Amino acid sequence: MTPYDAPFAQPAPLRSTAGSALTDGLGRKVTYLRLSVTDRCDLRCVYCMAEHMRFLPKAEVLTLEELNRLASVFIDLGVRKVRLTGGEPLMRKGILDLLEYLSGHLASGALDEITLTTNGTQLAKFAPDLARLGLKRINVSMDTLKPDLFRRLTRGGDLTVVQAGIEAARAAGLAVKINAVALARDNRAEIPALIQWSHARGLDITLIETMPMGEIDEDRTDQFLSLAEVRRDLDSFWTLRDLPLNTGGPARYVAVAQTGGRIGFITPMTHNFCEGCNRVRLTCTGTLHTCLGQEDATDLRAVLRGGGSDADVAAAIATGIATKPKGHDFRIDRGAAPSVSRHMSTTGG
Ligand code: 5AD
Ligand code: SF4
Repeated sequence: MTPYDAPFAQPAPLRSTAGSALTDGLGRKVTYLRLSVTDRCDLRCVYCMAEHMRFLPKAEVLTLEELNRLASVFIDLGVRKVRLTGGEPLMRKGILDLLEYLSGHLASGALDEITLTTNGTQLAKFAPDLARLGLKRINVSMDTLKPDLFRRLTRGGDLTVVQAGIEAARAAGLAVKINAVALARDNRAEIPALIQWSHARGLDITLIETMPMGEIDEDRTDQFLSLAEVRRDLDSFWTLRDLPLNTGGPARYVAVAQTGGRIGFITPMTHNFCEGCNRVRLTCTGTLHTCLGQEDATDLRAVLRGGGSDADVAAAIATGIATKPKGHDFRIDRGAAPSVSRHMSTTGG
């Protein structure tokens, strides 16, 4: 058995008292919370944001205490894994305080894993603390190895800072997975190099198809690149072997014989993965979305700020989850019109 045959850790069973609150109408158990802690970001990736984004007023964003309280209710109900997202989660003031709280749930055994999706710009500063607080793996977004293209795609980002951040994370003992969005015009030819760069460092890489979320300035259709095509490209010079790995998420994994590394493919546009979905998303304004690709929403902030008890919050969560949609409805052929009006930076990727 190669290391790549080892299955990812499976979530522990839900506690018996909590099983029903987080089971949706189709019998899917929700064990994974993606928590967006800010809509702000120091980058402006062209496929994610408009150049001049209007960010949320502070009063609309949950305080650290509110974020912690909501996360704690989810954990109480049986969530076993929390991923912090954004925007850029490391831009949130006090992020280490929140992680410190959450880390207590790791120590008590209530939580199996805390993880993070980051653009990497702040990693050099934060990596040692992340490791200290019990994080084991993080995802870092990097769509190109070309500094000029990186600057253009992120509207001003410095690739060397991100790469130094990745090195700092590795040095701190964190397993880093690279996320790269596949872009027909901008990085298609470079995808094999991105894979080699990652695998040479022992890092997994996940390729992501663009998803139509939020109004941006560009037309997304002309950058859409089907990962089925990318896979055909890669198949022409590498030996790819499908892996049985199932993270309960949308990625399908292959092992590359020549590099000894793994590639994940996230194909929301061409592949339906909703039947095994185990996750929900909470925005930084306390809105629960049970599906990335649908407009369904439950306002948990209203419950909190209306003086609701933890039991009231739990009841609102249970109602939201009971109606989790069967699946998403992304379509790229609607032109630039997004299928879902909120941006990725509000919901978290
Ligand atoms: N489509 C696909 N991926 C996106 N990301 C941000 N916006 C989009 C989009 N519209 C990616 C980021 C990051 C991950 C969290 O989501 O690049 O890797
Ligand atoms: Fe920021 Fe991530 Fe959006 Fe890029 S994709 S602008 S790094 S939130």
